[in-house]
Amino acid sequence: MAHIPVLLDEVIKYLDPKKGETILDATLDGGGHSGAIIPRLLPGGKLIGIDQDRQLLDKLISSFSRQMRDPAVAGQFSIFKKDGNLILVNDNFRNLDKILKSLKIKFVDGILFDLGMSSEQLENSGRGFSFLRDEPLIMTYKSELGPEDITAGDILNKWPEEEIFKVLKEYGEERYAGRISRNIAKRRKEIPFATTFDLVEVIKKSVPHGKKRQRINPATRTFQALRIAVNDELNALAEGLEKSWELLNRGGRLVVISFHSLEDRMVKNFFKEKKNEGAGNILTKKPISASEQEIKINPRSRSAKLRAIVKL
Ligand SMILES: C[S@@+](CC[C@H](N)C(=O)[O-])C[C@H]1O[C@@H](n2cnc3c(N)ncnc32)[C@H](O)[C@@H]1O
Repeated sequence: MAHIPVLLDEVIKYLDPKKGETILDATLDGGGHSGAIIPRLLPGGKLIGIDQDRQLLDKLISSFSRQMRDPAVAGQFSIFKKDGNLILVNDNFRNLDKILKSLKIKFVDGILFDLGMSSEQLENSGRGFSFLRDEPLIMTYKSELGPEDITAGDILNKWPEEEIFKVLKEYGEERYAGRISRNIAKRRKEIPFATTFDLVEVIKKSVPHGKKRQRINPATRTFQALRIAVNDELNALAEGLEKSWELLNRGGRLVVISFHSLEDRMVKNFFKEKKNEGAGNILTKKPISASEQEIKINPRSRSAKLRAIVKL
């Protein structure tokens, strides 16, 4: 199933894109939000879309067909341009400052972060994001890996048991982190982890019997934790938020949709800090959640929390 943009009306309300403005979508994916933003910027405006996943960008580019210029490789990231109104960049949003510098853009009027993974990555990437599919244990948002990248398999097969415990406890808030990490260390002595189902088997063995019937799948938290660790998500978000603030014009809006409490806490504290410095005005006193109606159509929106702030 194609990714359905979450809280779309609310994103448009708080990001408030207007004719002639420059808006940055830090997590472009299939452009679900951007597709609704672009018409509001024209004529004269510009959308810059960033995603780490080259495969997702390639899909978008091929849908624009030959209108898209060949990629110009600028340092570490590839930049694609269409008529000067649309710029797509394949990179991590933690490099926002370098990306905008290379585009010779000093400030933007709005920035959107819609964090985490997309439905496309979960269902079709083949990189092991889902515990329901037997796939290699990769879990990177990047589709093309460099020597510096780590995978979920690297963590499971090579990291010390205590480090794995910490990942599961901190990033997954997993109650059974002790048992799961112990059983991971035991299993890999016999055969290394190769696929997601190897991991699911160990989790099933580690969680007490009665708990197997709980509302969420017992593998949910471990998969979330590994994904956060593989992509260094919390550090990337901290850097992305700091840099985006520097790049916002006065009156510029920053909108963030998060999907778990660790991210939401970070966004909340960052916004509070800006408010206390007198630098920003928080637009959402409480985080905005999806309506029952949206959750019915798009269950993924259930855990979404949107926060927005304007720079003074
Ligand atoms: C939830 S999806 C965005 C969906 C999009 N807003 C839409 O409605 O079509 C999140 C996307 O962010 C990308 N992503 C996650 N962390 C990133 C990072 N640090 N830098 C760049 N892209 C990132 C993922 O690859 C994924 O495609």
